[in-house]
Amino acid sequence: MITTTGLRKVYHSRGRETAALDGVDLHVREGEVYGVVGRSGAGKSTLIRCVNMLERPTSGTVEVAGTDLTALAGRSRRANAALRAARSQIGMVFQHFNLLSARTVQDNVELPLEILGVSGQERSRKALELLDLVGLTDKAKAYPAQLSGGQKQRVGIARALAGDPKVLLSDEATSALDPETTRSILQLLRDLNQQLGLTVLLITHEMDVVKAVCDSAALMKGGRVVESGTVTELLATPGSELAQELFPVGGEPSEEGRTVVDLTFHGEAATQPVISQLSRTYNIDISILGAAMETIGGRQIGRMRIELPGRFEENVVPIGFLREKGLQVDVAPVGAAAGRKADSTLVKEAAK
Ligand SMILES: Nc1ncnc2c1ncn2[C@@H]1O[C@H](COP(=O)(O)OP(=O)(O)OP(=O)(O)O)[C@@H](O)[C@H]1O
Ligand SMILES: [Mg+2]
Repeated sequence: MITTTGLRKVYHSRGRETAALDGVDLHVREGEVYGVVGRSGAGKSTLIRCVNMLERPTSGTVEVAGTDLTALAGRSRRANAALRAARSQIGMVFQHFNLLSARTVQDNVELPLEILGVSGQERSRKALELLDLVGLTDKAKAYPAQLSGGQKQRVGIARALAGDPKVLLSDEATSALDPETTRSILQLLRDLNQQLGLTVLLITHEMDVVKAVCDSAALMKGGRVVESGTVTELLATPGSELAQELFPVGGEPSEEGRTVVDLTFHGEAATQPVISQLSRTYNIDISILGAAMETIGGRQIGRMRIELPGRFEENVVPIGFLREKGLQVDVAPVGAAAGRKADSTLVKEAAK
């Protein structure tokens, strides 16, 4: 539904060049909620602004709903008209809502329809239908200043849906909201995704947002996508930074000369008493250093960091047992302090 290929955006300011995007290949499938995360300055907003052509990419292509937007972005009037039409397939939600304070809620939602030249009666019918969809029927005649942050964002979402877009882009739509309101807005995005088959590309710096609503995610660093995939795929990728951020398991080893192992449980394995089986089968004492269990997309997934007595060489058989049970097993490097640092440098080879 959204594909970017080799997307680059270079800004020139005060004689300096900044490559905000440095070759981004992103693929968002139809009907999915896709989260892009990354530190401040990673290029997330630039990416989303290039996807809807608010910003023209320096090079590379952007395809949305089968149309190559970069090819349309010409100087001619015809090209501009075609680009406008293609852009009506894309709705955009902003962090600071961007509502017009002198207009009522309903008039704010009608604004894009006015621009599209829709008649008054049809505009008002559509606006009321959208306000119903976002649960704000009773606020149609209110002004933005009379609304809470969450309600303002609902208006922002209704307005973004006015042109019946196929794709909704959201740049930090919930980061000005408290946690409870954030949850309700995320639930709304999820509902719209399911009811309308809307594809959602959202930018966030909160991992909880990804956990709550995203089917897939990408991690951006320095203008590049360094990891991407479905959440389940990411969790199944040894050493994935996103997986570790989504499912932080920490815990320090109790002493030297022990083997620290990170386990990821998927599907069936998540509900089996694997640890007690391991302990009984090999008659070893196992310490649990950290654990997290969650339901993602209706499936149980858990991560656990355990400690086995003895060095890696002495634990080859128990580790093999865990693999056989369908667990993903990452062995932490010998002598490395546990915690975040060790996680990103998990020894993948040693465990194979
Ligand atoms: N209009 C601009 N002119 C010059 N440099 C820019 C411009 N917009 C963004 N940049 C630079 O491009 C890089 C990426 O910026 P961008 O806004 O995409 O980051 P971001 O990931 O959205 O960050 P944040 O999480 O803080 O919103 C930054 O180094 C930024 O300073
Ligand atoms: Mg940003």
